Amino acid sequence: MSPLATGGPSLPQERRLVTEIPGPESSARLERKKAHVADGVGTALPIFVAAAGGGVIVDVDGNSLIDLGSGIAVLSVGNAAPSVVARVQEQVAAFTHTCFMVTPYDGYVDVCAALGELTPGDHAKKSALFNSGAEAVENAVKVARTFTGRNGVAVFDHAYHGRTNLTMAMTAKNMPYKHGFGPFAGEVYRAPMSYPFRDGLSGSDAAARAIDVLDKQVGADSLACLVIEPILGEGGFVVPAPGFLAGLSEWAAATGVLLVADEIQTGFCRTGAWFACDHEGVVPDLITTAKGIAGGMPLAGVTGRADLMDSVHVGGLGGTYGGNPVACAGALGAIEEMRTHDLSGRARAVGGRMRGRLEALAAEHPVIADIRGRGAMMAIELCEPGTTTPDAARAAAVNAACHRAGVVTLTCGTWGNVFRFLPPLAIPDALLEEAFDVVAGAFAATA
Ligand SMILES: Cc1ncc(COP(=O)(O)O)c(C=O)c1O
Repeated sequence: MSPLATGGPSLPQERRLVTEIPGPESSARLERKKAHVADGVGTALPIFVAAAGGGVIVDVDGNSLIDLGSGIAVLSVGNAAPSVVARVQEQVAAFTHTCFMVTPYDGYVDVCAALGELTPGDHAKKSALFNSGAEAVENAVKVARTFTGRNGVAVFDHAYHGRTNLTMAMTAKNMPYKHGFGPFAGEVYRAPMSYPFRDGLSGSDAAARAIDVLDKQVGADSLACLVIEPILGEGGFVVPAPGFLAGLSEWAAATGVLLVADEIQTGFCRTGAWFACDHEGVVPDLITTAKGIAGGMPLAGVTGRADLMDSVHVGGLGGTYGGNPVACAGALGAIEEMRTHDLSGRARAVGGRMRGRLEALAAEHPVIADIRGRGAMMAIELCEPGTTTPDAARAAAVNAACHRAGVVTLTCGTWGNVFRFLPPLAIPDALLEEAFDVVAGAFAATA
């Protein structure tokens, strides 16, 4: 059964509950999922989706939920955004695949040209396209190792870079991402991240601390690259203290270590700029993108200095589906939406609204120990009042209450005690306000 045939922004932008969550139709489908889908593939909110558009998700029972997660930071332009749908439809009818490594097509080159234009820095840049964020990170490391002739990869506490073997090694958190999946790739070294709420350090002191650890653990001469999320994603939306990224960038430039910004979660307008590095005036050598790049189509990229990107031998980068023409059409549509509707400006407005609501909430609920984020990438960290002891149980309770009330919320963080708010930037203001009424109600109901 599918009560709604079409999605897109024409879907009524409303929260509407006609059954409990999950409803009977979703619950029946959940039984089928249990029978056929590996248990290792979990779901945060077990409603089965019939349609989605703008800022809502409509389930098979006819409930319309407000989306504050964007499919984990993907739907910046909103679900089924008009330009994405139009370009994808046109492309899918023209051809679905050739493999760019066999016979090329314009869409791939157009996306690479756009990446060169939009990413930080006005130097000559080139790109290569892949399917997933993890694949992009792996390939950035390949480029860095080839160019430098060094092996070491520096990463940070709380980092998340993916679920492939190398990116699991680069990811910090054991459960659920790494547990039982080793042995992991070698030559990965971890440094302390700037985490202002927990370490109270200035950006330059936190950078000096990280550099000292890397100097002692491995030494710059053995490091090909330093890979960093300019704002932590899965690790808890931690915004490093001002000057942290710049300090690392200076050290990397002085020592020949390549700075790789993993902007897979932060990129494409989410933080109120095209890229999070823009806020700090930092220009990375290489940048990885995915998620928001293509309005929901699977696409990822590595973009960097042309001389770095060209250091890899012909045939050394690629993959059957990397830069698939339909996914590239989605990206060109998403970028068109971002440009036409100034989605960076929209992210700043959405972020301001969310910050206001979260500050009011924190004044009432001392369990909210920290409010942080940039643009439409906002989070609150929940701790036992007056301490920095994580309160994951309260986060889980509030999360479940939001879901029952028809708002899709997500948690994150090393201790699972952080709420992250990532609404589609296409969400109407009234719907956003209603979502935060629900969040406030959930805090009150679980106090
Ligand atoms: C910063 C960052 N890097 C890499 C990844 C991995 O991307 P994917 O899930 O597309 O492989 C993610 C996904 O959440 C991410 O947030």
